[in-house]
Amino acid sequence: MTASAAVTSRPLSSGGRLRGRVRVPGDKSISHRALLLGAIAEGTTTIEGLLPAEDPLSTAACLRAMGVTVSPIEVGLTVRVEGVGLDGLQEPNNVLDCGNSGTTMRLMLGLLAGRVGRHFVLTGDASLRGRPMRRVGQPLETMGACIGGRDRANLAPLAIEGRPLRGGVIGTPVASAQVKSAILLAGLTAEGTTTVIEPSRSRDHSERMLRAFGADLEVRGELGRHVHLSPGPALRGQEVVVPGDISSAAFWLVAGSVLPGSELVVENVGLNPTRMGVLQVLRAMGADITVQRERLVAGEPVADLLVRHAPLEACRIGSDLIPSLVDEIPVLAVAACCARGQSRIEGAAELRVKETDRLAVMSRQLERLGARVEERPDGLLIEGGVPLRGAGLDSETDHRVAMSLAVAALVASGESRLERSEAAAVSYPGFWTDLDRLLC
Ligand code: S3P
Repeated sequence: MTASAAVTSRPLSSGGRLRGRVRVPGDKSISHRALLLGAIAEGTTTIEGLLPAEDPLSTAACLRAMGVTVSPIEVGLTVRVEGVGLDGLQEPNNVLDCGNSGTTMRLMLGLLAGRVGRHFVLTGDASLRGRPMRRVGQPLETMGACIGGRDRANLAPLAIEGRPLRGGVIGTPVASAQVKSAILLAGLTAEGTTTVIEPSRSRDHSERMLRAFGADLEVRGELGRHVHLSPGPALRGQEVVVPGDISSAAFWLVAGSVLPGSELVVENVGLNPTRMGVLQVLRAMGADITVQRERLVAGEPVADLLVRHAPLEACRIGSDLIPSLVDEIPVLAVAACCARGQSRIEGAAELRVKETDRLAVMSRQLERLGARVEERPDGLLIEGGVPLRGAGLDSETDHRVAMSLAVAALVASGESRLERSEAAAVSYPGFWTDLDRLLC
C-alpha cells in the first residue's frame, strides 16, 4: 500500500497522559542502507530489526526487481538478503517504483549510475515525483553518469544509462546524507578515489555501514566533513542489527514532555551522534529525559529514554543544528506551541523539499488548532502557550506531519479529526496502536 492508496480519517484523542514502555520500529535510514549494501555484497546479509514500513519495502521491491533475493519483511522477522556482488544487479524489465521514499530514489541513483550498459527508470508517487533529484544527479554527472528526466533531469521519472564512472573531489552544496550516500555508492565502482566534502556533517550511517561491510572508507577533516572512499575491496555480507529510530522516538519524547502526568520509557533508541539534535533541543527547553542502559549495538550507540512531563521553555534552532534534527522539526514545532515564550527555527529551508513542504504544512495545520505560527522563508516563528482547540486536520500525505499533529491534538481541548492518517505507515506502521496503548 502506498500512502495515498487508502484514505483514512481518524478521530484524535485529546487530554490524558502517556504511561508505560514503547519500542519504536527500526531506524529508517539504517534499514535502507542495510538492504542496499546487503544486495551488492558477496554472501548473505541478515538484518534484525529492519523497519517493516512502506519506505524500506520500496527499496526491497526495487532490489528484487533487479534480481536480488530479499526474504519477506514483516514485524519481528530477521530479513535475509542474498548479495549479488558489486556488479550483479540485473537490468529490470520495468520501471523501478520508489513509492514515497526520497532515500530510495536518491541512493538508487548513486547505486545504478555506474552499471555500465544497463538501463534503469526510477519513479515514485506524486510527492516523490515533485522532489528535487538534481542535487544527486549533478554530482553524479561530474563522475560521468548519464541521467535524464523532466525539468533538466531534476524530476522523476528519471532514466539512467549506466556509464563508467571516475572518482574525484565533490563538494555538496547542502548537508544531505542522501546526496553524500549516493556519491559514495557511485564511488564503489568508480575509477580512483571519491571524496565528498559537505558544508556541515549530515548523518553518517552510510560511512559506518560501508566500513562494516569492508569498504575502504575514511572520514577526515574538520568535524568529519570529508569522506574518502577508494574502490577495490568486495563488500562482504554482514549481520546487521537495526536500532530503533530516534525520529520515531521523537513523537513520544515530545508527547511525554507536554502531557501532564506522563512518564514513559522509549526502548532501544539509536543515539548516533549525528542524529542527536532533537535530544539536545528538548533538553535545552527543559524536558526531563534520562538516558538509560546506554550500549553499543552493531557499531551504533543505543539506549532507552525515560521521559517525564516537564514545563518547556521556548527554543532557538539555527542552521548549524538542522542536519542533526531535520526530520524532527515538525514535532519540535508542536513542542514549541506548548512552551513558554517565542520559539524560532531558522536555516530550515530544506524542509520545503521533504515529503511535503513541511514549513507550509505545519504552519497551516497548527493554525487550524489555534496556534500562532509565522511561516518564514527558511523557518518558523512560534508563539508558545496559546491554548490549542480541537479541529479538523490533514496530514497532507506526510507521515511526520500525521504523527506530529496527533501529538498536538493531545494537548488541544476537544476532539480533532485527522484526514489521511494512513501516511504514518511510511515510517511507523504501529504508531496508532502504540498511541492507543500508551494513553491513559
Ligand atoms: C535521510 C536523510 C535526510 C532525511 C531523510 C532520510 C537518509 O534527508 O530527511 O528522512 O536516510 O539519508 P537529507 O539527507 O536529504 O537531508
